[in-house]
Amino acid sequence: MNVLVTGGAGYIGSHTCVELIEAGYTPIVIDNFCNSNPESLRRVEVITGKPVKLISGDVRDGVLLERVFSENEIGCVIHFAGRKAVGESVSMPLEYYQNNLCSTMTLCKVMAAHGVKKLIFSSSATVYSGDNEMPLHESSKTGSCTNPYGWTKYMGEQILRDIAKADPAWSVVLLRYFNPVGAHASGLIGEHPNGIPNNLMPYISQTAIGKREHLNVFGNDYPTPDGTGVRDYIHVVDLAKGHVAAIQYLMNHTGEGVFNLGTGHGYSVLDMVKAFEKASGVPVPYVITDRRPGDLPACYADPAKSSEVLGWKAEHDLESMCRDTWNWQKKNPNGYDD
Ligand code: NAD
Ligand code: UD1
Repeated sequence: MNVLVTGGAGYIGSHTCVELIEAGYTPIVIDNFCNSNPESLRRVEVITGKPVKLISGDVRDGVLLERVFSENEIGCVIHFAGRKAVGESVSMPLEYYQNNLCSTMTLCKVMAAHGVKKLIFSSSATVYSGDNEMPLHESSKTGSCTNPYGWTKYMGEQILRDIAKADPAWSVVLLRYFNPVGAHASGLIGEHPNGIPNNLMPYISQTAIGKREHLNVFGNDYPTPDGTGVRDYIHVVDLAKGHVAAIQYLMNHTGEGVFNLGTGHGYSVLDMVKAFEKASGVPVPYVITDRRPGDLPACYADPAKSSEVLGWKAEHDLESMCRDTWNWQKKNPNGYDD
């Protein structure tokens, strides 16, 4: 079955293409490379030994999408395309609402016109309100997002929920990712953020390789065991496999399905530093600084529903998340530009 993968050249998309191919699906990627490099897909071809069909273009381009759906028999769609930098979304809200919401609406319109009504959407743990008890269940409270990026995910979910409600032929799976880290074990594909990384793991690995002087630990006075922020880090390959499991669910259900993709374990910033030092054998100097505005003390999933309904469970531990990140970082110090 052909699976249209929007944003398939990106970090999670490229790993998902590998898992799709290994599960016997044929990904067809559409990407405008606003935050990626086509080299990632060439490397997917090296890993899998199979060619990957790539359409270079924007998901907001309805004419292009019409052509893609007319020329290819698409069984379902995984919609990764979107912008994801929280800080940037605060300074460029219109760009975020425009890109993340218009892409979703244009895509659904063209899908419906071609009778393709099966969609997996990249949502995020950021849709949960900050006042929930941990762990987060799919039924935990959502909303009160602290930035435009978070609102685009919240609104994207709502749009898809309404579409599935209005037309019972639709099947929509909303996957709420926790904190994806790591890279493919080959070291051929991984995450290479532009500029200074916002997220913890890329900052740690760039510090370990000497690109950054030290890690700033954003606060050590949280009500957590060592005072630093706790998160649910999940290996990107496990996350990618979650999408394969979600396709099987899509094929057998209609309506809306919402699932957490996390491990259920919370690790602190200092746990991550220690685990990375152990896996890499390289020290990661750090300095404790003020809290980052908007950060929660702790955020981790209850992944029971994904396990029971999708039959999916994260398998990689912290050691393999750190080892694979370091392997990718060492082999590609400048990402795909190397
Ligand atoms: P990424 O930036 O690596 O991948 C997104 C891809 O979409 C990129 O290749 C980019 O070029 C492409 N793209 C963006 N807008 C496009 C458009 N209008 N048309 C065509 N292509 C477009 O990000 P990622 O980490 O792989 O994230 C994938 C999805 O998962 C995003 O929707 C993101 O918001 C969501 N998500 C990511 C995380 C995370 O921590 N990485 C967490 C939760 C949710
Ligand atoms: C961030 C995003 C969130 C997104 C998630 C996806 C913010 C405010 N939130 O959340 O919307 O869904 O990524 O992965 O950006 N930390 C440091 N030093 C650093 C970087 C991070 O101490 O240089 C700490 C943070 O305070 C936090 C933990 O590390 O406690 C993880 O941070 P990060 O990787 O940015 O993820 P989230 O905060 O979960």
